[in-house]
Amino acid sequence: MYYGSQLVSMKNKTDSIKHSSAWHNVAAHASKMKDIHMSDLFDRDPSRFDNFSIKLKPFLLDYSKNLITHETMSLLATLAKASKIEQWRNKMFAGERINSTENRAVLHTALRNRSSKPLHIDGINITEEIQNSLNKMKLFSDRIRQGLWKGYSGKRITDVVNIGVGGSNLGPQMVTEALKQYSDNSVNVHYVSNVDGTQIANILRPLNPENVLFIISSKTFTTTETMTNANTAMKWLTASSFDQSAIAKHFVAVSANKENAISFGIDKDNIFDMWDWVGGRFSLWSAIGLPIAIDLGFERFIELLEGAHELDQHFCNAPIQENAPIILALLSIWNCTFLGAQSQAILPYDQSLHMLSAYMQQAEMESNGKSVNWDGVDIDYNTVPSIWGGLGIDGQHAFYQYLHQSSNVVPADFIGSKKSITPVQDHHETLMANFFAQTQALMQGVNEQQVREDLKAKGRTEEYIDKIAPHKVHKGNRPTNTILMQQISPRTLGSLIALYENKIFVQGIILQICSFDQWGVELGKGLANKIQKELKMGTLNDSHDSSTKGLISCYMEQ
Ligand code: F6P
Repeated sequence: MYYGSQLVSMKNKTDSIKHSSAWHNVAAHASKMKDIHMSDLFDRDPSRFDNFSIKLKPFLLDYSKNLITHETMSLLATLAKASKIEQWRNKMFAGERINSTENRAVLHTALRNRSSKPLHIDGINITEEIQNSLNKMKLFSDRIRQGLWKGYSGKRITDVVNIGVGGSNLGPQMVTEALKQYSDNSVNVHYVSNVDGTQIANILRPLNPENVLFIISSKTFTTTETMTNANTAMKWLTASSFDQSAIAKHFVAVSANKENAISFGIDKDNIFDMWDWVGGRFSLWSAIGLPIAIDLGFERFIELLEGAHELDQHFCNAPIQENAPIILALLSIWNCTFLGAQSQAILPYDQSLHMLSAYMQQAEMESNGKSVNWDGVDIDYNTVPSIWGGLGIDGQHAFYQYLHQSSNVVPADFIGSKKSITPVQDHHETLMANFFAQTQALMQGVNEQQVREDLKAKGRTEEYIDKIAPHKVHKGNRPTNTILMQQISPRTLGSLIALYENKIFVQGIILQICSFDQWGVELGKGLANKIQKELKMGTLNDSHDSSTKGLISCYMEQ
């Protein structure tokens, strides 16, 4: 097997970052910082906001509500330097094979690089390939949107159904949802990801096959769930047309596996490129973003790419201490690895971002949810948190109790917009008042004395105050980052996603994790395939544990 020179140099040579003096210094500093309260840091430094915030064109990042000082940030920057983060970043952008376990380059950033400078991978100029793919996307999306692409009966396409899962679904769907206001609704775009037949059945029920185009999005073209849904879609179409030739007019694919797509029945001209140097969860910038281009128009899709590219430029050029993705990564490592947080919440205060936390779950957890380093050696420090969250306001009436008073500290990213894309009376002000209030409350908290004074002022009895006061104490000191967007648009959204993608890359490098494979999803997949055969045959394999056997037998009784 061929190993690139990069891989060879990494093999057996990883000195654990934990043994570096940079790491030791951060750890020693963390044990001192644990006893400090953030509100004291704010009292001591009136320019704390100016010191710990970054203004970029698409958004302002305020990270002052973290348990940090100048010393913290300087020690963390030294840790980033000790990890050779800048060199690794340059290797990624240059197309070196930094995906060491799969021996692949990691070049989703090239998909949004609008320059025409050639970049060669295995002797192929991928800049040219990307441009060809974009040209094909433009032609196709224009034809669909203008009604020039006709179905088998000569009717225009009114509905596009994207069938894909994970990275072949979450990115485009999240963006489609976020940018709904920018759609002219010339075509309705739907997403099918779940193998639970309820989803595809509900989506297809009101549709007329004559007007429907299916996009089968699968990098590998082997994913069981996607193939099952694709087969169902194919049967649904051919049941209506009674003609196999209809398939070419109603099915296109986005895949790196052309052979499988063709044997599935898709016309070779209807296959859009994907490449092994694009990870599924980073692929919305490729033709996996085709439904976005169809929904919004190709020009809007390009704006999304441009916004991401602008953020990449910032990532490549800003010094560490002013570099938004590096700072976010360092803060995550600070909060989780050094201060012990186990999870992180993503809390958009913008309805359009309602799928962001689901998207971020895959992006960060599938990338960095690992426990061995590049050499396969067990890691003995906390790596990345579990990611969860949801829309801010809804969360306030659901899980924020936990954020404010639970014994677990959950660092949170608050994401809001200065301008609403759908202004309705004074709704935006109410929304944003909550947005600002929550991070202040999480940081400051309220101590027992304040609670007692407040209850006294309200005329409560001493007895009542003694009983209730401890329940009303909020310890505060809960770290948050605030990302205040100008307004959600294709360009600003592109920047926001690239901010997180680059942050995830930095986390992986500092924590010495291979961020670009996902072996952890294989074990369950393999077992499911075996069990599916048993369910089909109605025979139970003896090798299962008693719980699994009991459950399958019970299921088979029906
Ligand atoms: O769930 C694992 C995974 O491989 C993801 O990484 C990927 O985004 C998804 O499945 C879909 O894969 P494909 O695009 O090959 O169907």
